[in-house]
Amino acid sequence: MKGPGKDLEEIRRLVNSAGASIAKEFTQSRRRIDSAYYVGKGKAHEAAAFASGTGCNLIIFDGELSPAQQRNLEGVFDMKVIDRTQLILDIFAQRARTSEGKLQVELAQLSHLLPRLTGRGVELSQLAGGIGTRGPGETKLEYDRRRIRKKINILQKETEKIRERRAAQRDSRQFPVISLVGYTNAGKSTLLNTLTNSSVLVDDRLFATLDPTTRKIRLPIHQDVLLSDTVGFIRKLPHQLIVAFRATLEEIKEADLLLHVVDVSSPEMENEMHAVSTVLEEIGAVSQPVITVFNKTDKCGSREAVERLLRIVPDSVAVSALTGKGLDILLDRIIHFFSGRRTHVKFSIPYDTGIKFLPVFFARGEILKKEFVNGRIIIEGIIDNEIAKKFERYRI
Ligand code: GTP
Repeated sequence: MKGPGKDLEEIRRLVNSAGASIAKEFTQSRRRIDSAYYVGKGKAHEAAAFASGTGCNLIIFDGELSPAQQRNLEGVFDMKVIDRTQLILDIFAQRARTSEGKLQVELAQLSHLLPRLTGRGVELSQLAGGIGTRGPGETKLEYDRRRIRKKINILQKETEKIRERRAAQRDSRQFPVISLVGYTNAGKSTLLNTLTNSSVLVDDRLFATLDPTTRKIRLPIHQDVLLSDTVGFIRKLPHQLIVAFRATLEEIKEADLLLHVVDVSSPEMENEMHAVSTVLEEIGAVSQPVITVFNKTDKCGSREAVERLLRIVPDSVAVSALTGKGLDILLDRIIHFFSGRRTHVKFSIPYDTGIKFLPVFFARGEILKKEFVNGRIIIEGIIDNEIAKKFERYRI
């Protein structure tokens, strides 16, 4: 079911990704959303008549249903009714792999569920089974609202701890970070794989990645960098998810460089790029340098169209993460970026401090000369500005 003026393609892909199949689509053009039924009451009954005669067990609305609309519609359909947010939450629940990811999804699900219990009594069993209910479903049916609130409280504290832990890790990290961002299914994991030859889960379903996966790569300029895959973005990412995934999304804000991966073969490319920018703004990741990576060029028929994009969008490259085409250019851009952040230095450091410092120099710079003179280490080389600043007092 869809509201006025939207494209159904995205919801189809979401339904598919959730593992459901579509029996029938109903659409209605309306000037205003019906406050009681979202669509018109007549349309709801028409769809309900169809659904009751088939094996359907779920009705999905491509929009945001209020708790009251959802309740009314479940009355009309006599089966589970969910909206776009619940569908996305369900996909996230299916995909979360690490305990951190699971915890964040559960928090989002319970926050979404809580207002929907109002006036329904504690009929949580109604919510059991099927899409839209994974995670806080079956095993937790005994929750009443108070207990859900308590659980939300605990989960919020846990996610806060994750944030603190991540922030501490960031403070002590030794290497610059490149974050891959992009609309879901743009090819971030594939790019990470090809760039690092690792085997992060690659899957042609939406939101295959929910937990940031980080790999270390060594650039030919003697610089180690961390390459981090993040959760896929989507148009109007449900607010509960942004809040719950704040710890994950904050990683992006702290990255040194963003690679915005774009699927050039998607008919919705421009909207998807816009959705990504909106989420980046929402999480405050606006000041970082971005390289736009037009991916899946092997799937895009028009070479001219790609060339045009490269001319219009500054700092952009065209690649195919699948075939590896263009990755050398991308790598050059990355190297160029990090080269621009390096300085030629000469340090004279007391031996004990210097010995500890050498591995950092190896990881984030190139040593041109190293000598031991009178209990000191004299190092000359090209190093990351950040490190150069940290050791400024030893500079000669
Ligand atoms: P989420 O985890 O959902 O955010 O997805 P993602 O951006 O990490 O995308 P992923 O790497 O999982 O790729 C999605 C699908 O696109 C997979 O089927 C990939 O094989 C396919 N894909 C990725 N890059 C390319 C490419 O360059 N060309 C083609 N033809 N397919 C690609």
